Amino acid sequence: MNPNEQIIKVQTQAPSNIAIVKYWGKKGLQLPANPSMSFTLSKALTEMEVSYEPGQHNLKITFLFEGRPQPTFHPKLYSFLEKLQMDYPILNTGQLYISSKNTFPHSSGIASSASSMAALANAIYEILEKMGHVNPDKKNTISRMARLGSGSACRSTSLGWNLWGQTDLINIASDEYAISVNSMINPIFESIHDSILVIRTGAKPVSSTTGHQLMENHPYKEARIKQANENMKRLYDALRNGDFNDFSEVCEEEAMSLHALMMSSRPGYTLLDPSTLEVIRRLKEFRSEQRVPVTFTLDAGPNLHILYPDSHKKAVQLFIMIYLRPFCEDNQVIHDQISFPTLM
Ligand code: PMV
Repeated sequence: MNPNEQIIKVQTQAPSNIAIVKYWGKKGLQLPANPSMSFTLSKALTEMEVSYEPGQHNLKITFLFEGRPQPTFHPKLYSFLEKLQMDYPILNTGQLYISSKNTFPHSSGIASSASSMAALANAIYEILEKMGHVNPDKKNTISRMARLGSGSACRSTSLGWNLWGQTDLINIASDEYAISVNSMINPIFESIHDSILVIRTGAKPVSSTTGHQLMENHPYKEARIKQANENMKRLYDALRNGDFNDFSEVCEEEAMSLHALMMSSRPGYTLLDPSTLEVIRRLKEFRSEQRVPVTFTLDAGPNLHILYPDSHKKAVQLFIMIYLRPFCEDNQVIHDQISFPTLM
């Protein structure tokens, strides 16, 4: 075998993330209609082994998920690689073996597309680097690559708080990739917890891809873009000032607006479950009675992310385990926390 044609093997991992200001609606080549901001999780990871064997034939992908072939993922993977081939024609040929596993259960309310596309972008970047494609702008390049796989994945290539999309708040913010905003975060948000209540598992009746598409002709499209930009400013200030009350207001407005946008799409749909609403009601009651700083957000599904500072971990987790856990499918609760670089 020609030494240039040796198999290149890499191992990577990436965390999932949860958005506070939500990306909902896109334009162009996977560019966001509005800016979004999220933090990465510490327990919810995708771990990946990727090998690339150079060759003359058109690129062939073999994908294993948790040790088993998963051809259903092939269309998404080929379409991702096609986008990368525009910048890296070397990936037009050869063979890519991808073996992936997650440290969290499937459809539990944790975005596996974010962690898996970020892990794959890390892997492909490392492979390209080993083949001599050095890029001076490594961090942004990997985030940009991940974005082409799944929009929210661009916020999973760097630990902590990440902002994706142009905003007047920060002039280096970009629609092309996410930037880290860790340096401006107040310490109380550097160790924020996220307990995920798995209300219901199972495939979503309407995918996020369809949800994004429905935003194109949505009656509230312009209002949504305006709201997200305003909420980004409110969130930015709350994170800088360490103001948990303001943070909670933005969190909940964004979570409810995301689902309201789904309900008011044409055609409308809902991913919420009656238990999601009951759990929210009980959480608010607990907050006002006990005066505990706690809030929630939702991703595109019925499962609830309960967010609270480290100082109130004991009280919130006790409340969850006694009063909210019975609403979860098979009593599943995942107590996770931000993966902030200085915490790791
Ligand atoms: O990255 P996608 O295309 O799966 O979209 C994700 C959209 C939300 O998870 C609902 C919000 C977000 O910003 O992560």
